[in-house]
Amino acid sequence: MFTLGHLSDIHLAPLPRPAIHELVSKRALGYMNWRRRRMHHRREVLDRLVEDLLARSPDHIAMTGDLVNIALPEEFRVVRRWLDETGGPETITVIPGNHDAYVPFLREPGISKWAPYMAANDEGLQFADQHGHAFPFVRIFGEIALICLSSARATMPGMASGRLGRRQMLRAAALLERLGEEGYCRVVLIHHPPLSGMTAWQRALHDARAFQKVLSDCGAELVLHGHNHRVTMVRFHGKDGPIPIIGAPSASLASEDPLRSAGYNLFTIGKGGNRPWRISMRSRSFDLEGQPSEIHHDLLP
Ligand SMILES: [Fe+2]
Ligand SMILES: [Fe+2]
Repeated sequence: MFTLGHLSDIHLAPLPRPAIHELVSKRALGYMNWRRRRMHHRREVLDRLVEDLLARSPDHIAMTGDLVNIALPEEFRVVRRWLDETGGPETITVIPGNHDAYVPFLREPGISKWAPYMAANDEGLQFADQHGHAFPFVRIFGEIALICLSSARATMPGMASGRLGRRQMLRAAALLERLGEEGYCRVVLIHHPPLSGMTAWQRALHDARAFQKVLSDCGAELVLHGHNHRVTMVRFHGKDGPIPIIGAPSASLASEDPLRSAGYNLFTIGKGGNRPWRISMRSRSFDLEGQPSEIHHDLLP
């Protein structure tokens, strides 16, 4: 049995104080929004949740983007320290979200600060791109394969959309085919909800239809995403059977709405069910008083 924790949209607080020149961009609007909503994403909420997750000793943790808020250089440094203290690159895999690509990076390092967390592990190197593209990358843990995509693109103010692009789409298809043929349990990580109609156009994956076809033609065992800041479960039909598509809530959001309150998912993956892979999920969330609740789902019995 392999246990995989899924954390998303930590939007790490507090926001460092930006320099004036750092606000000459889409960040100015984001900064005003953040100040208006600053009580929503709370560090103490995240700390409680991560402590709860680590106490369950997951074999690995997947983080599906939006680690920062308005992509200030200092935010990337603070998140890197947080990642190092929380588990290190052998324990945590990261893919970026739209907030991690909030503005185009010219001279600033941006997400490259997290490079060790966004790269193949030794076992996954055999699936690396021959041309050196960073995404998709693959991490292998025994018979479990994480196929890690980036839908994060800098966009105009007011937009939070994403895109995989043709090259990444073709590569994802080839990887899913090959990993499926070799008998791996394929877990796809993507920030934006991967199917069309799962969110408003301004926030959506703009090539979702093409990606839907990839999933349908090539198959996968599980798709994990973030972005919507709420728990969602969709069952999609792929070549090799049903594909649970699971959206995690934000791991730091203080909300009265049980579907939006801070939470994480813990997946148990093993063999021996009705299909080649058996997957179950425990969704743990915390209310405003910090009281935990847990729901169990058999995704692939
Ligand atoms: Fe987010
Ligand atoms: Fe997002």
